[in-house]
Amino acid sequence: MIREVGSRSSGFPGRDAIAVSLLGSTGSIGTQALKVVRSEPESFEVAVLGAASSVDVLGAQAREFHPKVVVIADRSAAAKLAHEVPPGTEVLVGTEGLEQAAVLGDVVLNAVVGFAGLPVTLAALGSGKRLALANKESLIAGAPVVQRARQTPGAEIVPVDSEHCALHQCLRAGLGPEEVERLVLTASGGPFRGRARTELEGVTVEEALAHPTWSMGPKITVDSSTLMNKGLEVIEAHELFGIGYDRIQVVVHPQSVVHSMVEFSDGAVVAQLSEPDMRLPIGYALGYPRRLRRQFGAIDWREFSHLDFELPDRDVFECLGLAEQAGREGGLAPAWLNAGNEVAVAAFLHGRISWGEIAQVVAETLGAFDRAKVSEVADVIEADRRARLHAEQVVRHKERAA
Ligand SMILES: NC(=O)c1ccc[n+]([C@@H]2O[C@H](COP(=O)([O-])OP(=O)(O)OC[C@H]3O[C@@H](n4cnc5c(N)ncnc54)[C@H](OP(=O)(O)O)[C@@H]3O)[C@@H](O)[C@H]2O)c1
Repeated sequence: MIREVGSRSSGFPGRDAIAVSLLGSTGSIGTQALKVVRSEPESFEVAVLGAASSVDVLGAQAREFHPKVVVIADRSAAAKLAHEVPPGTEVLVGTEGLEQAAVLGDVVLNAVVGFAGLPVTLAALGSGKRLALANKESLIAGAPVVQRARQTPGAEIVPVDSEHCALHQCLRAGLGPEEVERLVLTASGGPFRGRARTELEGVTVEEALAHPTWSMGPKITVDSSTLMNKGLEVIEAHELFGIGYDRIQVVVHPQSVVHSMVEFSDGAVVAQLSEPDMRLPIGYALGYPRRLRRQFGAIDWREFSHLDFELPDRDVFECLGLAEQAGREGGLAPAWLNAGNEVAVAAFLHGRISWGEIAQVVAETLGAFDRAKVSEVADVIEADRRARLHAEQVVRHKERAA
């Protein structure tokens, strides 16, 4: 039996400390979320911590934060984890464990990477929780079923992705979607901005992982280097805010200070600016609708000089167009795109394919999309499975041809 959580008073006026369920606590977003919690201990308590297999880090986090529950997706690691956690902390395992944990606390931060985050998103929304969403893949691949779960009374998504968190803040300046002319998503351009296709032929994993402005986990860092991350974010923006694809524009902004903008019907553009620091959007999503008192990423205007903007090079960074194509197709096409990309990125990180072949694997996977109907979660899981199989075959073919 899991104990009640969330009962003491907080730094938020008139409100108890916010109990946070943090799935993916050992990753880049997860560890930064714990920094936010440490920075305002009176405002937050940690109800749940969870990861895939990082037992030592998870155990150390549990001994510091004393959550009611820890979850480990890898069943074989559960026995070891049970010895690492303090007395009174319950250990849950596997996908069912993630689902059980995602209905606890006041706010659920989904910081799991990839399609594996889908059960967390669905369980949190299905139980009427506020979901602080870093795991964009679950919304993108599972949109038809996630949107249904989002209708549950009390359910709400507050985006953690810095661009969508910026849009969420900018949209508060208007009265609704009918006043929105355009969403403008900014992109840093990644480590390969300005390079010609021929200059990118032999790029290494290390070069792709050397992001100029953000320090993130390996999957999203590679996605940033191909602009697939921005493509996924276009779909994410469409799903979050209900704005049509013709009214979502991508602009490259190398300083990563303007995190995105909303252009309203009267021509006014509202932007959110801060230094690139994920603790700001994480704190925004955890504390929403109140803001934290602790600042992260505030701009020092004495140091600040200029902002640059340019259009993305869609010929070199084909993943952006592939994602937009999948988004416009709708249904399960984004699930195929996402699965193809996850397989391709893992293959690139393991040295099986080149950087340029990531877009090819995604394009060939998307080309095999069969327009199957989606009515329940099982359809999304099946689409993901079939798309992965197809993408893996494409990767093997490229390995043999190399
Ligand atoms: N990092 C950023 O700045 C950033 C910015 C915007 C959006 N995002 C999004 O946030 C999400 C997390 O990104 P990240 O960069 O933090 O990734 P990361 O550093 O690779 O961390 C991933 C986390 O997910 C856990 N995990 C992986 N597979 C799991 C599974 N099957 N079940 C449960 N937990 C699992 C990992 O646990 P183990 O440690 O045990 O493997 C780890 O805690 C992604 O969707 C990404 O697109 C990240």
